[in-house]
Amino acid sequence: MRSKLPDIGTTIFTVMSRMAQEYGAINLSQGFPDFDCPPRLRELVSFYLNDRKNQYPPMTGIPQLREQIAAKVLDLYGFAADMDQEVTVTSGGTEALFDAIQATVSRGDEVIVFDPAYDSYGPGIALAGGVTVHIPLSLPDFRIDWNLVKERINERTRMIIINTPHNPSGAIMSRQDMDTLAELTRNREIYVLSDEVYEHMVFDGGVHESVLRHEELRQRSFAVFSFGKTYHATGWKLAYCVAPAALTAEFRKVHQFVTFTSPSFIQYAIADFMRECPEHAKELPAFYQAKRDTFCRLIKDSRFTFTPSRGTYFQLVDYSAISSLPDAEFANHLTQKKGVAAIPLSPFYEKAPKSTLLRFCFCKDDSTLEAAAQILCKL
Ligand SMILES: Cc1ncc(COP(=O)(O)O)c(C=O)c1O
Repeated sequence: MRSKLPDIGTTIFTVMSRMAQEYGAINLSQGFPDFDCPPRLRELVSFYLNDRKNQYPPMTGIPQLREQIAAKVLDLYGFAADMDQEVTVTSGGTEALFDAIQATVSRGDEVIVFDPAYDSYGPGIALAGGVTVHIPLSLPDFRIDWNLVKERINERTRMIIINTPHNPSGAIMSRQDMDTLAELTRNREIYVLSDEVYEHMVFDGGVHESVLRHEELRQRSFAVFSFGKTYHATGWKLAYCVAPAALTAEFRKVHQFVTFTSPSFIQYAIADFMRECPEHAKELPAFYQAKRDTFCRLIKDSRFTFTPSRGTYFQLVDYSAISSLPDAEFANHLTQKKGVAAIPLSPFYEKAPKSTLLRFCFCKDDSTLEAAAQILCKL
């Protein structure tokens, strides 16, 4: 059969998680917590399931949830989004990213993506008939080289995808980055797809520079957020997209035929929880910063070298003092022979530089981090 995605295999997250399971390794690869979501939220989900909120909710998401989202966006980013015309609930950030790309990118359009890039962007662009233009982030701190972006923008450029805080590096974009992006896209038909699923994981007093804070940029942007990340419930696949009314109208045309809507009882539960416990999201930076600090302290005397992550729940480490294997091989070795699974960086690149970096996920119980660190410190 002729494949529409001939170069796409199984995502590295599934590959490494499966390998971790097969070899009984501690899984610091795929990004999901091994602790549970807040008990009150679980209670609310059970309540609404038993309350028979089990039929199709509205295509755009239930009003109670969109109202809470709009209130949160106003509180955090100072932007009064219109809950009816600018907020759409989706089945995961993954769906929102896909919908935004399908809604805007046509055959032959170019989409700028920064490598290492989250691996759902490329296939979404390919299925829309678009062309992915890969621009590598500058090492060692994974910054965007705006001169390169300026060189690559042309009449065919339709979208630029940014991701802050950045998976896998933990880098965060600055206000200056956002100003430059606004300047480079001004007076052009270029949309910004801003993947902000780690919005609440910014450390050391840093600020999450959402596109929604930026008056000019938000007028051309789809901003994507994920409840899965915020509420430690990645398996629920509930998320949302905030975009101007005209963009949202096109976005919804796709959304209604991709999933149409998302589980009703979870929407009701999250709407209540957001109203009852706004402090959950506000406490997340400190919660995850403590996890980062624990993990960094535990591996401080290992032969891995690292700079503490600035955001997300991932920590990059350099293993060059331990092995000269290529990253994918070293990740396999670590999983199969040593019992700790990690994610190599090369699958996030079109043309991977020679890298000796691995990504560890620290959204785990301290006991898991301790068990992993014991092994890592012996390498
Ligand atoms: C950068 C990035 N974007 C999007 C997603 C997808 O989020 P969701 O699980 O809500 O689909 C992830 C999940 O790991 C991610 O890391």
